[in-house]
Amino acid sequence: MINKIIKPDFKSTLKEDRVFHPSKKFSANAHIKNMAEYTKLYNESIKKPEVFWAREAENLEWFKKWDNVLEWKQPFAKWFSGGKINCSYNCLDRHLSDKGTQSAIIWDGENGDKRNITYNELHEEVCKLANVLKGFKVKKGDRVVIYLPMIPEVAIAMLACTRIGAIHSVVFGGYSSEALKVRINDARAKVVITVDGGYRKGNKTRMKDAVDEALSGVKFVKNVIVVKRNGIKVQMKKDRDFLYGDLMKKASSVCQPAKMNAEDPLFVLYTSGTTGIPKGVVHTHGGYLTQVAMSAKYIFDLHPNDKFWCTADVGWITGHSYVVYGPLLNGVTTIVTEGLPTHPTPERPWKLIDKHKITQFYTAPTAIRMFMKIGRAWPARHKLKSLKVIGTVGEPINPEAWTWYYNNIGKRRCPVVDTWWQTETGSILVTSLPGATPTKPGSATLPFFGVDVAVVDMKGKKTKVNEGGYLVINKPWPSMLRTVYKNDERYKKTYWNEIKGVYFSGDGARRDKDGYIWIMGRTDDIIKVAGHRLGTMEIESALVSHKAVAEAAVVGKQDEIKGEAIVAFVSLNLKFTESEKLINELGAHVVKCIGPIARPSQIIVVDDLPKTRSGKIIRRILKSIAEGNEIKGDTSTIANADILEKLKKL
Ligand code: WT7
Repeated sequence: MINKIIKPDFKSTLKEDRVFHPSKKFSANAHIKNMAEYTKLYNESIKKPEVFWAREAENLEWFKKWDNVLEWKQPFAKWFSGGKINCSYNCLDRHLSDKGTQSAIIWDGENGDKRNITYNELHEEVCKLANVLKGFKVKKGDRVVIYLPMIPEVAIAMLACTRIGAIHSVVFGGYSSEALKVRINDARAKVVITVDGGYRKGNKTRMKDAVDEALSGVKFVKNVIVVKRNGIKVQMKKDRDFLYGDLMKKASSVCQPAKMNAEDPLFVLYTSGTTGIPKGVVHTHGGYLTQVAMSAKYIFDLHPNDKFWCTADVGWITGHSYVVYGPLLNGVTTIVTEGLPTHPTPERPWKLIDKHKITQFYTAPTAIRMFMKIGRAWPARHKLKSLKVIGTVGEPINPEAWTWYYNNIGKRRCPVVDTWWQTETGSILVTSLPGATPTKPGSATLPFFGVDVAVVDMKGKKTKVNEGGYLVINKPWPSMLRTVYKNDERYKKTYWNEIKGVYFSGDGARRDKDGYIWIMGRTDDIIKVAGHRLGTMEIESALVSHKAVAEAAVVGKQDEIKGEAIVAFVSLNLKFTESEKLINELGAHVVKCIGPIARPSQIIVVDDLPKTRSGKIIRRILKSIAEGNEIKGDTSTIANADILEKLKKL
């Protein structure tokens, strides 16, 4: 829901008028070579979407062709219905005749372990694990939760599910057992695939323990498959838990791919919304695969033998679409890395790029700002000559970071693609095309093929040039979410009811005189911390579940590296008084409920929170206080005005 009270300040202060053009050399070899080509295809994709998307879908292999490209009964879309397809077949089998011995995955573990997995080998592993799942009676439509660090098994597990038509739900390895439990319960998973533990900054983490905790009292999870990664000792529950290695040794490597309906669910991925409960975003086979494959090809200008490195964790949508499915659907090599890019030294990414001759590098503004802070001496020691395209995603990128990235990583040679999209959109919707689009630092530029976007006011009326508004999408697209898992109502309400007749993204944006889109950030109660999406409500619910907290309000505060940092305002129950110990305890409590990514960087104890007469907390005021700004705008709606003076003193 749009929080009309914290309606953002839509005045954009960003002034940036530099324009960067792709080099002639790059454009000459690119799939889309100039703006005329972009415009021609874009116009076709909007005017004749069925012709355009049918042609793109034909690049995949279908067991049976679709009857209709699109059936649209707002807000429910069906793409390629009647078609039969399999995801793992398209990612693997169809490449085997000419690319069987090429690397599918190059993996770089954080402790120095390395693996190179060819398409033949990946195919074999996936078939074996698919048979293991079958052995556990996993059938079409059953849910499998995957809770793994960034090791090759995470991709194997996802692909194995798709091979037999099971619906995977990957849960980010950094989530706590409680957050994991919520997701396992909502999905009613039959099997969980996990690991003993992983590595973080050289330390061993414990993940199987978290699964055991999450499963206490849970009856519907029949089996747990445990990959051995860091060798720590873990509990294995008899008849429920089995070691991945043992199971794989005995499994057959022959497994026919299930013929899935185009509209069968492919996966559910939980993401934060504006309530305390995460949403299970549902993506389907035909549409998702078609659009992910084609977006990866054009936006990163993929060519045979490319080596694509997306640094995102597979626990997020970026990892689904551009670590696993996008690169594999296109038959290139995907680089999978475990642990922080700066560990063991800040040189790791640049060394890796030179060593493997990586061609595309796709990361988040928060990482770029961190590299920037560490200093350009690190990338300067490396030629990075193999790089062709560099990309950014997850939050608005400030022009300064954009330029640093362009100069120091792209070495003024590689086009930067600033890609806007969401868990819900499945694939990139607003972006430049590296061989065609003149880029402006800080702008995600123009809509991608098939994407009919607009910036509008609350009534759905287009805003004027450079005037802020809400970013909406007018027409369905193949990789859009189909619903919220088991909750059509929430799907309708969140995405199709805020502004009549269009998909509501929740982002504020403006378009400049050239039609370029400048994303201005979320307009609802969602914050982006180091690119991770968190609902303020989720963190607030975590805080108030602690016995000391009476009320809590969470806001995002601008942060140089993380984009936004979490600031929590809490009022305490009568028996409790403020102390450093209590503040630390509250931080730890949030970590326990959600995970380390949600730990507030500041917890401020207050007597009371500013509220409207109807009792709604006025976060806009708290945000100004957190950021040390003057409180602007209307304060006449505050019911408890005396609190304002106290807050100002903070
Ligand atoms: C939100 C979606 C899908 C990518 C990973 C994040 C913000 C994403 C950009 C960009 C400005 C961006 C938006 C969006 N966002 N990309 N290039 N420029 N903002 O997926 O966790 O679902 O978050 O991330 O606010 O709504 P997500």
